[in-house]
Amino acid sequence: EQRIRALGERPSLLNPLFYGLSFGIGAGAGLISDRLSLGFVAATEDQVCRHLDEHLDKLPAADAKSRAVLEQMRSDEEQHAEHALAAGGWRFPTPVKYGMSLVSKVMTKTTYRI
Ligand SMILES: [Fe+2]
Repeated sequence: EQRIRALGERPSLLNPLFYGLSFGIGAGAGLISDRLSLGFVAATEDQVCRHLDEHLDKLPAADAKSRAVLEQMRSDEEQHAEHALAAGGWRFPTPVKYGMSLVSKVMTKTTYRI
């Protein structure tokens, strides 16, 4: 968020909504089972890593500051996924991951505009 503001932009107005929904989904999954909750973390972080890879591909080569932020985020998220699986998280089946990627596409397209 600091980097976005330093570039003269602002985070998406939808952030509080997505945060609330994510919290709700995480809390609901946690109530059902730890393995489901951890599996959801791992699957979500996989999506985030792919999304960050797309951003890194599009980033201007001269923008080293933004690249450093995104590369650190990617490293962190990859570790979160590994930890979640190591702690017993389920590996979600491909159709579930595909559905999650469709939802994440809607989220990234809307946050780009709003
Ligand atoms: Fe994370």
